[in-house]
Amino acid sequence: MAVRLGDIAPDFTADTTEGTINFHEWLGNSWGVLFSHPKDFTPVCTTELGAFAKAKGEFDKRNAKIIGLSVDSVESHNGWKKDIEETQGQALNFPLIGDPDKKVADLYDMIHPNANDTLTVRSVFIIGPDKKVKLSITYPASTGRNVDEILRVLDSLQLTADHQVATPVNWKDGQDVIIVPSVSDEDAKAKFPKGWKALKPYLRVTPQPNK
Ligand code: BEZ
Repeated sequence: MAVRLGDIAPDFTADTTEGTINFHEWLGNSWGVLFSHPKDFTPVCTTELGAFAKAKGEFDKRNAKIIGLSVDSVESHNGWKKDIEETQGQALNFPLIGDPDKKVADLYDMIHPNANDTLTVRSVFIIGPDKKVKLSITYPASTGRNVDEILRVLDSLQLTADHQVATPVNWKDGQDVIIVPSVSDEDAKAKFPKGWKALKPYLRVTPQPNK
């Protein structure tokens, strides 16, 4: 069954390039980003893993742990790691799950049979400190992901977890946000002391409250 927003992220124990982990224990109180790769020694995945590794400091700043998965063995991943470092100029610095029996891929519905019977699609799940799934995105094997977009969504999720705001189209950290419609103007006066601009009664724009 598909993993949906608001569900508890399925827990699992799996071998990774950094040893055996229990997913929920490994997450601890952090946010988590779990992403799948169709196969080892494939070109697009090689570039993605290099890019995630280069951005690890940005995830750390956001108290988010990152973990990849590919439906090959950890032994195979260890061979691939050398190619990632050689071609992308960056060593892998986070765990990559070995999932040859597709146990985790099945738990997270990462195999879409009408796309491919055996390979995972490029899934991304963002999981909150409460272990609930906050975001899921699915890309086809032919399209590499955008790491900046994943960081951008993480910024939005963390902001909107703490403040009664939503982030508009193409929003980036530091830009104005929208007061959610469930907050009355009366309550907004206390919650948003910087004030707001009402373009419509339901579209109230305010400076990002945590800046
Ligand atoms: C890739 O990562 O390059 C890839 C993997 C599976 C199918 C197509 C491309």
